[in-house]
Amino acid sequence: MKTDTDGGQIVSNSGDDSSESATNESGGRSEPDSSYRAHQKRSQTKWDRWSDWYTMSERDLEPMREDAIAHLALESGDRVLDIGCGPGVNLAMLREAVGSTGQVVAVDYSPKMLKKARERIDDHGWENVEVVRADAMQVNFDEPFDAAIASLSMSLMPDVRRTVENVHRLLAPGAPFVVFDVRPFPKGPARILNPLVWRFLHWYANWNPDDDVLDSLRAVFTECDVLETHTAGTTYTVLCQKVKATV
Ligand SMILES: C[S@@+](CC[C@H](N)C(=O)[O-])C[C@H]1O[C@@H](n2cnc3c(N)ncnc32)[C@H](O)[C@@H]1O
Repeated sequence: MKTDTDGGQIVSNSGDDSSESATNESGGRSEPDSSYRAHQKRSQTKWDRWSDWYTMSERDLEPMREDAIAHLALESGDRVLDIGCGPGVNLAMLREAVGSTGQVVAVDYSPKMLKKARERIDDHGWENVEVVRADAMQVNFDEPFDAAIASLSMSLMPDVRRTVENVHRLLAPGAPFVVFDVRPFPKGPARILNPLVWRFLHWYANWNPDDDVLDSLRAVFTECDVLETHTAGTTYTVLCQKVKATV
């Protein structure tokens, strides 16, 4: 079993890491600094704590997650990556889209969230769905993915830009990356409430107020479109596409 830079274990749903070759190596990029590690530690504490209380958010946001997953246009046999999977709320829909011949690989940093995701996998007996404990900015896989999704997770990352770069690196040429996320009010008079929204998101989710998810996506992927917004623009879905290889 491999260990990450914080000494955390990387495990798959089978309890070892033999079936999916994931590592927490950063592929040659610089190591996280102390503020990165402090943010990550706070996230783990928060999400471990929230893992028992996630059912309500799962139900309420299901239609938006469903739409976000539909934008991946998954096909039977595809290999898809779920970044910051939490208790595995996307797994059933992703598994259905790729079928029994595809592969779903889900990454999260919170051991308690992963325990819930693993229970879900065991309950359904999905043999082609795996969870990996790892930091999304550093995780590495040998095989490229046909698609990736990050729902309600990218804006929590300690370094959004480098996490987006890592997801981009893990995708096959031409592969889509869908991000469904939250942000403060982007325009209009409701912006006066943004300082409160920031505080709430930071308290609730360890949201990262310093990095802008859309800016990072647009800087790394040349093609990115905001496809849907909800609740006065505070939730949004973006579809990005990795450039196809030139022949
Ligand atoms: C709000 S939950 C989202 C869960 C799920 N994707 C959904 O749609 O509801 C955010 C998840 O991101 C995970 N997370 C936060 N930072 C992470 C990181 N650096 N690497 C991997 N997962 C991370 C947390 O542990 C948490 O489970």
